[in-house]
Amino acid sequence: MYHVKKATFTLLGIILVLTLAACGGSSESSSTSEGDGGSSGVQEMTIKISHVVAENTPKHQAALAMAKNIEENSDGKVKVQVYPNGQLFDDKTEVKNLQANNVQFIIPDMSKMVGMNPAFNVPSLPFMFSSNEAAYSFWDGEKGQEIFQSLESEGIIGLRMWPNGPKQITNTVRPIKAPEDLQGLKIRVQGGQVLASLFKTLDAGPLQLPFGQLYTALEQGTVDGQVNTFSNISTKKLGDVQKYITTNWGAARVDYAMLTNKEFWEGLNEETKKIVQAGIDHGTEVARSKAEQLNQEAFKKIKERGKMDIYELSAEERSVFQEALQPVYDEFREEIGADVIKAAKESSAE
Ligand code: LMR
Repeated sequence: MYHVKKATFTLLGIILVLTLAACGGSSESSSTSEGDGGSSGVQEMTIKISHVVAENTPKHQAALAMAKNIEENSDGKVKVQVYPNGQLFDDKTEVKNLQANNVQFIIPDMSKMVGMNPAFNVPSLPFMFSSNEAAYSFWDGEKGQEIFQSLESEGIIGLRMWPNGPKQITNTVRPIKAPEDLQGLKIRVQGGQVLASLFKTLDAGPLQLPFGQLYTALEQGTVDGQVNTFSNISTKKLGDVQKYITTNWGAARVDYAMLTNKEFWEGLNEETKKIVQAGIDHGTEVARSKAEQLNQEAFKKIKERGKMDIYELSAEERSVFQEALQPVYDEFREEIGADVIKAAKESSAE
């Protein structure tokens, strides 16, 4: 009998400990409960950052820098896990999971956010930004911030623009030197109506596919080519399945929106939010200071591997593309907003 009672008490004790641990565990989890925002002291939690590209890219390097900064400044109370290569969520699932607070930060290519606001097509408008700095100036400015804020009705908070850079063209069929060389080619695009229209204007066939399916689609010939930054081309070894690369094209860019969700953000108390915000700022600085360098290093690697035939467009050849793509502006002026396009153009002129 004594043994039965003792066993019962022991069992109850275990259940109690487990229950308390589970309650305490909520402060360990990435989702902070409502009301936490009012308490003081740094909240203990684990934050997840998810993205789809490889490790040696501006996005991943910046996410790692952000994670380190937050962990250090919170004395390890806030742990940050960074998941590259679509390990956690891919292009198709990351936004929904952000909204559900299953992940606290994602950094999608803006062209994948156009469903929520067509103004995220801006980096795909032909030759819109003449430099990384022009793109920062627009996204940090009034119109760019308005576009980020428009996500709030979807439970998403747009924080900062992180750059990657201008797109180069790769394909298996022929060197691309002029608009007519794209005729009839099937080109994989990231997303957005503008990028699709850009290729239709050049008589090519755009096909939207998630980044995780890109290599296989090129390998199997589902598409003939694609457009991307040097860092994405090199880290995913696209040169193994693509013969030609045209550089100095840059008609469109890969730029990212650093996003969090409202539930997570509003659950942070002031002290914790300050630390997380400083981490985001640090990550933004790293992304912006390293993007160009990482892309140039990636270009060097592509050359060293020697698998691709490289054709560099001259300024003159580039301007032929520029002229051919002008109609895209007329097609999207109304949908994106003449005011948005004007502000973006002014950023490039600064
Ligand atoms: C792509 O899908 O090619 C890119 O948007 C991937 C990325 O996030 O850079």
